[in-house]
Amino acid sequence: MLFRVLAVALAGLQLALGVPLEQNAIKAEVGAKVDVAFSNHVRYLFDTDGNQVDAYGSKVNFLDGTYYLYGNAYGGSGMGQSEISQYSSNDLVHWKYEGLICTGSAGCGGGRPHIIFNEKTKKYVLWTDNGFDGYQYATSDSPKTPFTKASARAKIDPKHDALKPADFGIETINGTGYAAYSVLNFNYKQAGSIWPPINQSMYISKLNDDYTSTDLNGRLIASDKGFDLIDNEAESPDLFFRNGWFYVSASNTCGNCNGSIGLLYRAKSIDGPWIRQILSGDSCAGQVEGVFPVNTGSGEPTYVWHSTAVPGGPRVMWSGHIFQPLEFRADGSAKELDCAPKASFKISHQAGTKSVPTGKAMSAADGSPHIADYTPVCDSDLFTLYQTFTTSKAGTLKEVSVNVAKGRQLMPLVISVFRFSSYSDLVAPNYIYEKLGSRMVLPSFATDLLTTFNAITVSNLTATVKAGDHIGISITGSDFSPYCHLEYDTKAFAKTLGASTAPKLLVQGAGQNSWRGDNGKGSPVYEREGKSIKFFARID
Ligand SMILES: *[C@@H]1O[C@H](CO)[C@@H](O)[C@H](O)[C@H]1NC(C)=O
Ligand SMILES: *[C@@H]1O[C@H](CO)[C@@H](O)[C@H](O)[C@H]1NC(C)=O
Ligand SMILES: *[C@@H]1O[C@H](CO)[C@@H](O)[C@H](O)[C@H]1NC(C)=O
Ligand SMILES: *[C@@H]1O[C@H](CO)[C@@H](O)[C@H](O)[C@H]1NC(C)=O
Repeated sequence: MLFRVLAVALAGLQLALGVPLEQNAIKAEVGAKVDVAFSNHVRYLFDTDGNQVDAYGSKVNFLDGTYYLYGNAYGGSGMGQSEISQYSSNDLVHWKYEGLICTGSAGCGGGRPHIIFNEKTKKYVLWTDNGFDGYQYATSDSPKTPFTKASARAKIDPKHDALKPADFGIETINGTGYAAYSVLNFNYKQAGSIWPPINQSMYISKLNDDYTSTDLNGRLIASDKGFDLIDNEAESPDLFFRNGWFYVSASNTCGNCNGSIGLLYRAKSIDGPWIRQILSGDSCAGQVEGVFPVNTGSGEPTYVWHSTAVPGGPRVMWSGHIFQPLEFRADGSAKELDCAPKASFKISHQAGTKSVPTGKAMSAADGSPHIADYTPVCDSDLFTLYQTFTTSKAGTLKEVSVNVAKGRQLMPLVISVFRFSSYSDLVAPNYIYEKLGSRMVLPSFATDLLTTFNAITVSNLTATVKAGDHIGISITGSDFSPYCHLEYDTKAFAKTLGASTAPKLLVQGAGQNSWRGDNGKGSPVYEREGKSIKFFARID
C-alpha cells in the first residue's frame, strides 16, 4: 500500500522506525516510549481526517493523559480570532480534531487560549484574551469541549486599567497558578509615525485558588538589558519552571507575521530580576506560541519550544508550526534555536495513555504522506491539475479527497475522478477516460471549503478497482484569483516508490487545447516533474 510505503520512507520523521502509518494510527502503543522527529521545513500539521490543523497561536498541554493542541481557527471565520479549535494526540504526530471549544453567541472565543487543570476544584480552566475587561474564562470537567463561559472576568492588576490585556500564558507551578501577560498601551508617547505604533510590556501574577482571577499584583518583567524597546514590545508569553528558574518565553510585537525575535526570560523569583536572551532573530520565520514539557520517562522533562511558521507566504494565516527541544546550559540559559531549513530534532517522550486517534486519512488506501514538506501553490487560474495515482489494492473506490484552500473566489471548484488506461493515452488527443464521479464546490456555500487546506472530498464514487488501476483527479477552479493546493517533492520518496506506481501530477495550461511546440507534437497536458499534490483515496 502506498501509505504503508510512504510511512516507512518517512521513518526519520516518524514514530518508531518502520512502523506503518495506519498502524500508528490504530494501535500506537499506549504509554510507550516514542521518538518523534520534527523538521523546520515540515511545517504544516494535519489531523487524522487529512485536514490542515487550523489553530493559530496555539498551545500544547498534556492533560488527563493526552496531548491537546488548540488555538484560533481562521479557516472558516477569517482572522476574527473568535473561534478556538482543539485537537488531541497520543504522540504529537497524529492529531484528532475535537471541534470548536466554544462558539456561537454563548462562545468564549478570544485569542491565544490556554487551559490548565485546577487540582482543588477538579475543573479545567480555559482563559482567552477577549477585550479590555480582564481575561475571559470558562470551565469544564474535561479538557475537551464543552467549556462553560463565565460571566465574570479574570481580573488583573488595576494599575493596568487604562491598558488592554493582551497575549498571556497560564501555568501551575509547584501547586500555584501563575499568569504571565502583556498589556497594550495605545497611548504610547514615543509612538513613531511608522513604528512602533504602541508599546506593551509583560507582567506576572499569581492566580487565585480556583484560577478564575489573579492576585491583582502585576510584577513587571523588566530585563537585565534595561527595560528597552525589546522589553517594551514583548508579547505572546508562556511560562514554565525548571531547575529553580521561572522562565517566560515571548516574542516581540508581531501579530500574524512572518517572524519576530524569540525571547526567553528567566528569574529565580517572579519578582525578578529577569535575565533576557534572544533565542532567534526571527523565531524561524514565525512567532513563539509556547513551551511545553514532555515526559521523557526518565527524570527531567524535555521542554519543547513551538512557533508559528510561515512557509514563505502568501497567506500568513496558513501558518504551520515548528517544534524544537530547548537545550539548557548549566547557568539556566537556553541554546539558540536552530532555524536552518533542513534542521530536524528528535523528541523522545512517553506517549499518552489514551489510544492514538484514527481518522479517514489514516485508513486511506492510497495518498500522499501525512508528513512531508508541503508547499502552498496557487495556480488554478493558470492550470487544470491532473493528479494521478495507481491503486494499491482491489475493492470499491469510495472517496477521493484533495486539500484545497479558497480565497475570495466566485467561480466553483470542480474535482472529478476518472480511470485511464495509460499515461501515453491520457496526454494523447481524442482520448476519452472513464468518469467515476465528480463534485462541484461553490465557494460561498460549501462548509468544507475554507481558507485553510481542508480535505475536499468527492464521495459519490462506487467504482470497482483492481490493484494497479490508473486513477486521475482533475482539479479546475478558473477565476481571477486562484484556488490553492499543497505540493510536495516526490523525489524524496523515490527510493520506496517504483517509477510505475509513483503518484504523478500532470497539468494543462488554461485554454490550451491543441498541439504545442516547434515540432507541433507537444501535448498541452504534461507532467509537473517530481511534484505531487496532497490527496488521499479510500478503497473499501
Ligand atoms: C514547592 O512548594 C513547597 C511547599 O509549598 C516548597 O517547600 C518547595 O520549596 C517548593 N519547590 C520549589 C522548587 O519552589
Ligand atoms: C511603554 O513605554 C513607557 C515609556 O517608555 C513605559 O513607561 C511603559 O511601562 C511601557 N509599557 C506600557 C504597557 O505602557
Ligand atoms: C519571511 O521570513 C523569512 C526568514 O526570515 C525571509 O527570508 C522572508 O524574506 C520573509 N518574508 C517576508 C514577506 O517578510
Ligand atoms: C457525482 O455527483 C456529481 C454532482 O456533484 C454528478 O455530476 C456526477 O454525475 C455524480 N457521479 C456519479 C458517478 O454519481
